[in-house]
Amino acid sequence: MGHWIRHAARLAAVSLLSFCAAVQAADVVNVYSARKEVLIRPLLDRFSEQTGIRVNMLSADAGALLSRLRSEGRNTPADVLLTVDAGNLHRAREAGVLQPTESKVLDEHVPAAFRDPEGYWFGLSKRARVIFRSKERTEQGAIDSYEALADPRWRGEVCIRSSNNIYNQSLVASLIAHQGVEVTENWVEGLVANMARSPQGGDRDQIRAVAAGQCDLAVANTYYFGRMLADEDSRAVAEQVALVWPNQGGRGAHVNVSGAGVTKHAKHTENAVRLLEYLVGSEAQRWYAEANFEYPVREGVEISPVLREFGEFQSDDLNLSKLGVYNDEAVRLMDRAGWR
Ligand SMILES: [Fe+2]
Repeated sequence: MGHWIRHAARLAAVSLLSFCAAVQAADVVNVYSARKEVLIRPLLDRFSEQTGIRVNMLSADAGALLSRLRSEGRNTPADVLLTVDAGNLHRAREAGVLQPTESKVLDEHVPAAFRDPEGYWFGLSKRARVIFRSKERTEQGAIDSYEALADPRWRGEVCIRSSNNIYNQSLVASLIAHQGVEVTENWVEGLVANMARSPQGGDRDQIRAVAAGQCDLAVANTYYFGRMLADEDSRAVAEQVALVWPNQGGRGAHVNVSGAGVTKHAKHTENAVRLLEYLVGSEAQRWYAEANFEYPVREGVEISPVLREFGEFQSDDLNLSKLGVYNDEAVRLMDRAGWR
């Protein structure tokens, strides 16, 4: 326990005392989460009501949670790691901090493309990384694929965030998986040549830059656009921009997940699996996806009204573990091509 307290002291904004007192009780499950507590707490509370299992949660960013799991080793109190991006989930598997889970419920409700082939992690919600265009300065149909972002026609017109960002690394990894390193490298070089500015800011900043006239095109995740449309302060900005579903009729739009896995040294493995199974239930799927402006991973679950307006789309069915497999290669390639 002393070990845990020492580590815990470094984390702010968590109710550490209650977490500490509870970590070793029998009917608990301890979650390390890269998602904000407000976005998931109501769901966890409902799980507790239904099962009597208390959920303790510690929030931090994905990188911090992984280093923490690594340094804690077998002393970790964490039973579940909840994080975003298949690239991060794969890194956690590679770091040896997850264990495989066998569950008929998870296998049945999480489509194969959205989980680790050996059960080390499972997608819980889905997002697409797509193209946004200026409604004012571009026509509908002016761009219809990721490949076209490298077309000289768009010189100086593309806004996209830095290559440090895992979402971009995963997008590039998906291209490597489909087309190989050489074709992808040419594409990245073309994309870098088309950038309107040195990469800066997050996904929402790219959408804002299109609205502000700094570029005609941006790349961003769908939920950021959803949040902007749902927020009175940013709706007018978002409405100047149109969402483009890329590569429809071809391999489909690049998708990624938020997801979770049971930790290697979980002390409450059964409870951990029950929590994951709960999170893929229809009700939980709808709520979790809606709270985050994301898509449920489970088929046949209703999506939120904001997302319904985005329309139906075809998504890339690449197994997302490939995004992790090609991550290193993607990072090196982006570096060579001068993507800051
Ligand atoms: Fe994000």
